[in-house]
Amino acid sequence: MFLSSLIALVLAAASVSGQGEPIVYNSAHNVTVITGTWSSGSQHVIPGAGFANPAQEAFTYPNTTGVGYSFSESDGWYEIARYRFASNASEPNCIIGTVLWAHGHFELVSNGSIILYPIGDGYQQVQAPCAANSDFIQNYNDTELFLSWQMFEDPTYGPKLHLFQFDGSPVAPLFRVSSEPNMLPKQMLRNVTAEVATVTSDGLITTETLTSKKRKRSGAAELRRPMGLIAGLVALVMLFVTLL
Ligand SMILES: *[C@@H]1O[C@H](CO)[C@@H](O)[C@H](O)[C@H]1NC(C)=O
Ligand SMILES: *[C@@H]1O[C@H](CO)[C@@H](O)[C@H](O)[C@H]1NC(C)=O
Ligand SMILES: *[C@@H]1O[C@H](CO)[C@@H](O)[C@H](O)[C@H]1NC(C)=O
Ligand SMILES: *[C@@H]1O[C@H](CO)[C@@H](O)[C@H](O)[C@H]1NC(C)=O
Ligand SMILES: *[C@@H]1O[C@H](CO)[C@@H](O)[C@H](O)[C@H]1NC(C)=O
Ligand SMILES: *[C@@H]1O[C@H](CO)[C@@H](O)[C@H](O)[C@H]1NC(C)=O
Repeated sequence: MFLSSLIALVLAAASVSGQGEPIVYNSAHNVTVITGTWSSGSQHVIPGAGFANPAQEAFTYPNTTGVGYSFSESDGWYEIARYRFASNASEPNCIIGTVLWAHGHFELVSNGSIILYPIGDGYQQVQAPCAANSDFIQNYNDTELFLSWQMFEDPTYGPKLHLFQFDGSPVAPLFRVSSEPNMLPKQMLRNVTAEVATVTSDGLITTETLTSKKRKRSGAAELRRPMGLIAGLVALVMLFVTLL
């Protein structure tokens, strides 16, 4: 099973480099339908009301880091949740945390890619302890391309979805948490017009939402570093072991 997964994974990576021909959806896409809720690692990062409260520009921080995707194929709607910490190689103490939520329409392109088109009410919290404007929320409305995707039936965990990013790099394997897409209402959930540019004393410009700027004066909710940083590393090691 691992071997066939590995071979399929290599094939998937190889097909990424092939340009443009329409692909034929095969058994690697049909393990199950893509409709449902998918989450990486210990599966705590799950889109929907348990993660984001767009009207308040708030998040419920999961206990571990990771990514979650919900897809609803019947109406082409998706929702994403991401919670990450990344260290800056040149300044290892400056760990940047991001929490992100967005939703919108997705397209299963005939060449095997997936494109996510957010409707504009997405938002992300950025915490960069070493930057002058260190904790803020900004609008997020980036179209995202996944060059290809594959599914495998994991003997222990069931259906597993592999997405390959615009540059071919894999997203951490996503486990199917539910066959139902866990999602917030499929409409604009936030007023996105109130975004302001903050210029810091050293001349750096950050855009942030007005709510974020106001909230800071009354004490912003600090982004907690979860134990997930360690759990995330464990998950990474597990992924490595899986691949071996
Ligand atoms: C598939 O088509 C989209 C544009 O519709 C393009 O951005 C993407 O790179 C294509 N994917 C592959 C694997 O060529
Ligand atoms: C996989 O699913 C697609 C779309 O539902 C279908 O067209 C195709 O025939 C299926 N392929 C296999 C090998 O089951
Ligand atoms: C995190 O874990 C604690 C203790 O297990 C639990 O009470 C809490 O609900 C969890 N938080 C989330 C967001 O899942
Ligand atoms: C890492 O830190 C350096 C020095 O402060 C900075 O110039 C660079 O933009 C940072 N990189 C990221 C990804 O934040
Ligand atoms: C979000 O991005 C889409 C596509 O680029 C664009 O049409 C839309 O106006 C943007 N929405 C907002 C609120 O910026
Ligand atoms: C959105 O916010 C702007 C700026 O605060 C305000 O002028 C506008 O009326 C708001 N729109 C809605 C639909 O609430």
